[in-house]
Parts: sequence; C-alpha cells; structure tokens
Amino acid sequence: MDIKHFAFSLLSLPHSYNLRESFSRTPHPHSPMAFSISQTQKQIHTHALDELLCSDQRQEEPHKLQKCLISASVPDSPDRCLTGEVRFERAWDHWAKLGRPKLIVAPMVDNSELPFRMLCRKYGAEAAYTPMLHAKLFIEKGKHRNQDFTTCKEDRPLFVQFCANDPDILLEAARIVEPYCDYVDINLGCPQRIAKRGNYGAFLMDDLSLIESLVEKLALNLNVPVSCKIRVFPDLQDTINYVRMLEDAGCSLLAVHGRTRDEKDWKLFQADWKAIRAVKNALRIPVLANGNIRHMDDVYSCLEETGADGVLSAKSLLENPALFAGFRMGQWITDDEECHTQGKLDQVDLLVEYLKLCERYPVPWRMILAHVYEMLGEGFRLHPHIRDGLNSQSNLTFEYLYDMVDQLRDLGVRLPLYLKDTCGKVSVNGSST
Ligand SMILES: Cc1cc2nc3c(=O)[nH]c(=O)nc-3n(C[C@H](O)[C@H](O)[C@H](O)COP(=O)(O)O)c2cc1C
Repeated sequence: MDIKHFAFSLLSLPHSYNLRESFSRTPHPHSPMAFSISQTQKQIHTHALDELLCSDQRQEEPHKLQKCLISASVPDSPDRCLTGEVRFERAWDHWAKLGRPKLIVAPMVDNSELPFRMLCRKYGAEAAYTPMLHAKLFIEKGKHRNQDFTTCKEDRPLFVQFCANDPDILLEAARIVEPYCDYVDINLGCPQRIAKRGNYGAFLMDDLSLIESLVEKLALNLNVPVSCKIRVFPDLQDTINYVRMLEDAGCSLLAVHGRTRDEKDWKLFQADWKAIRAVKNALRIPVLANGNIRHMDDVYSCLEETGADGVLSAKSLLENPALFAGFRMGQWITDDEECHTQGKLDQVDLLVEYLKLCERYPVPWRMILAHVYEMLGEGFRLHPHIRDGLNSQSNLTFEYLYDMVDQLRDLGVRLPLYLKDTCGKVSVNGSST
C-alpha cells in the first residue's frame, strides 16, 4: 500500500476504530481501507504518516525563534510558535472552523469514553474530551492505547487529553492521536492522590517551568493546536500569571475549572466564576468555563458571568447525558414549577441508548458499569435487590443489563427528565425563545 492510501485509511475508518485495529488488521487485497502493520513496522509507518501529514516536523529543530519566523512566513504551516497577532488569529480561526462549540463534555476518566460522548453529542453536546490518557502508558502499553482511546468519524470536534511530566514522552503520545482530534489537551488540573504520586495534573502547578516546557513542546511540534485544562490558584494574581505563561508558551485554548487544587469536594466548594472571568479578560485565546453546571440555566448564567466561549460539564452529564438538549433532573426544579413539563425522556431510556452505543463501539465493562450506576442510581435506591443482583454478576452481558432495565420498568421505575417550556430564555446561540 502506498503511503497516501495508508494515510487515507487511517483518517477515514468507518465506525469506531482503535489503534490496535489500525495496526493489526488483516490486509484485504481489494480494499483501500484494509491494511496490516506489525508492531515493529508501526514506528516506520507512523513516521511515514507523520511525514505526510506534518511534512516538516522531522527536520532538525531550528532554534525556537527561527522556527517561529519560518512558520509565520508559510501561509499553511502548522500552528507552531507563531508570535503575537498571528497566533491568536490562528487560535480563533481554528475555533471558528470547529463551529465555536459552546456545550462541551468534560474529560472524565473511565466516563467520557466514545459511546458516552456519542450519546451526549446526540443530545446537544457540541464537542467532547476523551478521558485523561497517561502519556507514558499510552506509548508503552498497547492495552492502554487500545482500550482507553477509541474514536470514530462522527466523534468530532474532539479534545484528546493526556497527563504527562516529560515533554518528549508527551509529544510521542500526542503524535499518535493528532490525526484523530482537533486539540491535544494537557491535564493540569487533576487533584487526586494518584496524580500527586505520579507528579502530574494539578501537582505540576508547583513547577511552572515544567508546565511551560510541556506546552511549548507540543505547540512547536504538532499540527493540531494545544489546549490545557487547569485549576485556579488560591490567589487570583497567581492564576493570571499562570494563564499568561500558558498562552505565551503556545496554548491555543484554555479550559478553567474554577476550583483550587485543594477544593476537591464539589459539594463543599462552588467553582469561582469570577476567577474564570478574570482569566477570560486576561487572555486572547478562547477560554472555556468549568464548574457548577447542573442544567441549561446554569450554562446561560455561566456564559454571561464569565464571558467564556463555552462551558464544560462533567458530573451532571453523567446522570443526565441529555442536559445540553435542555433536559433537567427533577431535583433541579425548585421554582417556576409551572414552566417545566415532563419531557418524553427518562434516565432509563438514556441508559438503553447508551448500551446500544456500547454494542456498536465496544469499551471495557468497568466503563459501562460506571454509567449504569450513574443513570440508574435512583432506581437502585428504590430497589436495592436489583443493584445487588448486578453486583453479584461475575460475567456481565448486554442481555443481562437489558433484562435488568425491563425488571426496573416492570417495577414501575420512572426516572423522568424535565424540559422548560414556557419560560423562554436566551438560547446559547444568542436568539431568544
Ligand atoms: C468521574 C470523573 C472523572 C474525571 N476525570 C477527569 C479527567 O480525566 N481529566 C480532567 O481534566 N478532569 C477530570 N474530571 C474533572 C472534570 O472534568 C471537571 O473538571 C470537574 O468534575 C468539575 O466539573 P463539574 O462541576 O461539571 O463536575 C473528572 C470528573 C469526574 C466526575
């Protein structure tokens, strides 16, 4: 197969594909889509593909400034370290090309995987992040690569998120995914103990020069733009200095979770939208806001109060993947009762849709189970014996899960979602309803 066919087949695989498939399919002599590549050949072909897609990236690296000048003088050159206005224009052009998505599925380990992203996209999400991928494991362990990163043609715009603390390793991992995504994102916000042990996520905030080198490495060498997802510092000025550094290092889009590294409990700590507004005012690149989104009214308030270009939602989407289509959980109807009607959708329906997507786009059972518990939580609370039955399964099947859903329905479980109908609000795209 010549390299053009190879690149085409990687970029246009039908349905879902993962990197194992990409590198191990049996060749079919008459199909331009089919190809086979062994592990040892992988490097060579990846290299060849890189050369096709990023023609000048393997050349000896000139000094950064020299490279900036070279890039700036070539109209279609990759988004390297362009200086000043040109770089901001590039960042905004790219964002505009993606349709300026405002409603975005946040990155969630084991939870923002392909079938869940596809479900959220069906119900209004305009872009999505993958779960965080560990850059070192991603390049070293086929299992991590194959199971934890799958995508498909319709899964765009897509942010692929990595955690890392070594620029070279991060770049190697990023190069593998860049043909399949619209941003390579760096996780600078994970506050968990595992991130502390591994020295990544929010713990890199103690070493800003390392963060700078991670961002710069990608910005100088990738063809897709680099984005970052951060938490804020307790002190606003520290946050502003931090985000300006990220922008200067080549970050083209920034998502800000308005909590500090120590504010882990979302129930105890509200996200600080004022800090996000200050970040938005301080930067020239697109900024996304994250935190405190329970339903669409929160989306409108957040966009207005922060001035952000879009919002990310995580936890609320897990229970209600139709949030961005205007559906809300009953618990969020506190006032204006008359303005809410029961939509023709409930969480059980959404779970069934999700399971069907999992049959189409296979993912590990642990991910499927996480969504079963999130979407059926209230049903399990009402009927704990159904949850106990699920917990005791050693060999899960889709048949079992569909039967379990039928049992809950037979028991009268309804987990309705509500729509706001008569109280018009400004829509996300700016028109009044
Ligand atoms: C189950 C789960 C997994 C998460 N995994 C990630 C992750 O992989 N990367 C990341 O940057 N943030 C991760 N987060 C944090 C969310 O992206 C988001 O920043 C946080 O939950 C606040 O948004 P929310 O208030 O809408 O939940 C995760 C959150 C949850 C609930």
